[in-house]
Amino acid sequence: MIRDKGCGEVRETDIGSVMTIAGWVFRRRDHGGLIFVDLRDRSGICQIVFSPDIAGNSHESAHDLRAEYVIAVSGEIRKRPEGTENPNIPTGLVEMYVRKLDVLNEASPLPYNMEEAADAGEALRLKHRYLDLRRPEMQGNLIMRHRISKVVRDYLNEKGFLEIETPMLTKSTPEGARDYLVPSRMNPGHFYALPQSPQLFKQILMVAGLEKYFQIVKCFRDEDLRADRQPEFTQIDIEMSFVDRENILELIEGMMKNLFKSVLNIDIETPFQRLGFQESMDRFGNDKPDLRFELELKDMADLAERGTFKVFLDALQTGGMVKAINGKGMANLSRKEIDTLTAEAQSFGAKGLAWIKVKNGFESPIAKFFPEDILKGMAERLKAEDGDLMLFIADKPKITYDVLSRMRLELGKRLNLIQPGYKFAWITDFPLLEWDEEEGRFQAMHHPFTSPMDDDIEKMLSLNLSDPELFTAHRSLFTDIRAKAYDIVLNGYEIGGGSIRIHNQTVQKRMFEILNITEEDARVKFGFLLDALQFGAPPHGGIALGLDRLVMLMVGATSIRDVIAFPKTQKAFCMMSGAPSIVEPKQLRELHIKTDVIVREQGSD
Ligand code: AMO
Ligand code: AMP
Repeated sequence: MIRDKGCGEVRETDIGSVMTIAGWVFRRRDHGGLIFVDLRDRSGICQIVFSPDIAGNSHESAHDLRAEYVIAVSGEIRKRPEGTENPNIPTGLVEMYVRKLDVLNEASPLPYNMEEAADAGEALRLKHRYLDLRRPEMQGNLIMRHRISKVVRDYLNEKGFLEIETPMLTKSTPEGARDYLVPSRMNPGHFYALPQSPQLFKQILMVAGLEKYFQIVKCFRDEDLRADRQPEFTQIDIEMSFVDRENILELIEGMMKNLFKSVLNIDIETPFQRLGFQESMDRFGNDKPDLRFELELKDMADLAERGTFKVFLDALQTGGMVKAINGKGMANLSRKEIDTLTAEAQSFGAKGLAWIKVKNGFESPIAKFFPEDILKGMAERLKAEDGDLMLFIADKPKITYDVLSRMRLELGKRLNLIQPGYKFAWITDFPLLEWDEEEGRFQAMHHPFTSPMDDDIEKMLSLNLSDPELFTAHRSLFTDIRAKAYDIVLNGYEIGGGSIRIHNQTVQKRMFEILNITEEDARVKFGFLLDALQFGAPPHGGIALGLDRLVMLMVGATSIRDVIAFPKTQKAFCMMSGAPSIVEPKQLRELHIKTDVIVREQGSD
């Protein structure tokens, strides 16, 4: 062994002993006589001291040490002189007086100062990810991620789950994103899809009688990226046979309880709060509400329609809604500040932002459109008191919900309403189907294998799909069908989702019909699942948790990039390896692929 213990493990009990430690030069303070170095390895930091009379030749060499040199040092552990202790680190009471220095490796001048890494710009940090990952904060995140995976594995193992791998080179899974495709050399013109999730395979494992499956698994989705979305991410994927919804919710609540206790020593209360999808939309404007604060949306349609403000009336007459929230204590905002707020609402997609100040009465350009008792009714509904600012959005439901849910978060932050801690919730009673305006057809809200609620199955089977009016005039017959689907939400993030699956062929067939997926199409896309479902499929269901999001929330990071060792940028680019990149023409020829871009860059053809 090059070293006796980790830098961060040296303690007062080591005082007087001579040992060897190794690591990276973090900070160096050269006082000419005494040279101090903070030596860092994964376990932490230890202060080492080069004194001319003790270190001898090594003292000379210590002058040449630069940031991130890798060294091993032997010497005596001493108590730090009084007044020089550092109570902030576990090794803060001791230091090593070096007798011998070994430079194990030098480092080129760094592209940025490691101590100011947070200011270095993410592009630079991602390019030199190995440097970024040396930072204690990033190492802490990865250590936490490891511990979380370990606790999850142990918990599921304890409950009788088997970890089973599923293929990466496979067929498209209908999770709603674009596929990453991989060309097959042996089958020219044919492509594998990387899995968007192991959905079809885990269901087949249930048909195969494995009963309890889990996998901590990479999934790939080619979609627009943001702070909580990466093109490749990790799921804790679970499937079980002979269960209903309650069994799965209980399993996950137990897992979270266990996880938060073992990793963060936090007691999580179970069962989690449950919110119906529609209730969540109405009260918070989305299906992933941050429940650490209230500030709920209120419906104002009945009051708005009794006034004469055209914007509100127009919205209501064209199938839209008028909803509002209370900007607590914000009546003192200037016109300019309100304009900024309006611009913000517009950047979220709103046409405008109507406002009424409660300030010795009502102050607003739109107050004149409402009788006093309506204004009072509005204030009452929003629990708006003197000093508050009522904010209104009138628009199509989708935009109204979306804008107000974002305004709610914005105000939650601005008004300091967000309580520390962890607030879980289940969102249940999702609609089975949602209408896709662009495509003019229904989409499965979760995925096409999600079971309708028992009460709604009969109705779904009895619909006469050849009735030409059915999809237009009677659309609500479809949108009223509820799914046995559930999402788990933590602090405003969707950290998981799942459902009880359809195990009955008649219902599955009907689902495809409604989704306008022809039998032929279904055969081509998921024939192998349909085949399997014919041969004795047990009732089954499952869930997948987004591990990256869960870890992000548990370590208090704001982006999943900070809890993934080698993440990609917004443009799905790996700054470090340079992937994706162009490839040799020979490789493309072998795959029978031609691309315009490569041809141009190669200057041939
Ligand atoms: P779903 O598509 O809801 O369900 O995915 C499950 C969870 O995975 C996380 N997630 C992501 N995390 C980071 N980057 C992404 N691009 C990304 N996409 C999804 C979310 C999400 O809640 N097969 C079903 C599960 C099932 O029915 O059992 C599925 O994949 O936290
Ligand atoms: P206008 O009648 O366009 O001058 O708008 C009067 C007020 O209504 C302004 O404060 C606008 O920001 C606001 N407003 C305009 N459109 C909407 C809308 N769709 N929802 C809420 N407020 C709006």
